[in-house]
Amino acid sequence: MTTTTELDARTPGLNLGSDVLYLSKQNVLDLAISRAEIIGYTRDALVEHGHQRYEMPAKIGVHPYPEVFFHAMPAYVPGKNAVGCKWIECYPNNPAKFGLPQTTGLMVINDVESGVPVAIMDSTWVTAMRTPAVTVLAAAKLHPGAETFGMFGCGVQGKEHVRYAAEALPDLKTVYVYDNREAAADALIAELQGQVPFTLVKGESIEAVVKSSEVLSSATVILKEPLAAVKDKWVSAGQTILPCDLNTFWDPKTTKRADKYIVDSIEEHELFANMGYFPGGLPTIVAEIGEVIADVKLGRENSDQLIVNSNIGMAVCDVVVGRAIYDRAIAQRIGTTLAL
Ligand SMILES: NC(=O)c1ccc[n+]([C@@H]2O[C@H](COP(=O)([O-])OP(=O)(O)OC[C@H]3O[C@@H](n4cnc5c(N)ncnc54)[C@H](O)[C@@H]3O)[C@@H](O)[C@H]2O)c1
Repeated sequence: MTTTTELDARTPGLNLGSDVLYLSKQNVLDLAISRAEIIGYTRDALVEHGHQRYEMPAKIGVHPYPEVFFHAMPAYVPGKNAVGCKWIECYPNNPAKFGLPQTTGLMVINDVESGVPVAIMDSTWVTAMRTPAVTVLAAAKLHPGAETFGMFGCGVQGKEHVRYAAEALPDLKTVYVYDNREAAADALIAELQGQVPFTLVKGESIEAVVKSSEVLSSATVILKEPLAAVKDKWVSAGQTILPCDLNTFWDPKTTKRADKYIVDSIEEHELFANMGYFPGGLPTIVAEIGEVIADVKLGRENSDQLIVNSNIGMAVCDVVVGRAIYDRAIAQRIGTTLAL
């Protein structure tokens, strides 16, 4: 039997089973975890996923209004000693209606051996960080050497995608950004131009961005009925498309005709399809991105292939990053200890 002393030795500063560490967004920021480190944790999570060394049931959710969702996202990744659950909402009208983010949430991290909760943390930051980390890891693998990148949506995710592209895509020369609120694209460029090693250009139109970029990503809104803002005829052979917003932004014809349609989780995509997203049906999925990152399955096989990789977000990434945050917080004695 494990004694309390042994448990406390694993997490000095926390009385396991009696206390839980609360980490606010500011606490998480104070840990100063770098984007390079987040990319490393996210790669580890994807490799574990690619080798099927995880447990992650598809998200379950509740839906108070049409087009909004709350998701419970549990996962266990034994190789990273990470178990927990993220509880997240997506309310697309929050920014316009309340001046609040589309996506906020909390995450609980548990002790694997005893099961007790050890940390409760803001998950807004984790979500803002691990999502672009997945995109740039996929971009580096599926489209090495890319010199041009197009980003649709210049909000929380759009900005972080540009920052993460600077970390992981060393050959980029130009990044085009586009937002239907022009001020958002202007603000992104004003904030980041001096901080990234490539030129940031405000896209003149969606068509111009698509036709100028080898690799493209979108983080706009997730809707059941596709906006099809990108016309299929603008997309050409050899491009790599990495949506974070399911197939909302893209013409479903493009995802259907892609040479490879890769997703982060087949189960998650099937779940969304069953909820009414992908009204024309899911394209045929050839691999999960973790399998490609882990070299279990092939990604790009020649420079002419059109590849679409849809990543809707996986709890394995959240709990691996969350566990790293918790370990760092314990080591740095950051956070507030609360009684359970
Ligand atoms: N795949 C994942 O793991 C994951 C994780 C987090 C968020 N998301 C999704 O990413 C999207 C963006 O999230 P966020 O937190 O950055 O939101 P945000 O509100 O901060 O930013 C979204 C931006 O997209 C712009 N936009 C909306 N509709 C557009 C359109 N039709 N054309 C061009 N621009 C448009 C908005 O003006 C805004 O600037 C959401 O759909 C969210 O659900 C996905």
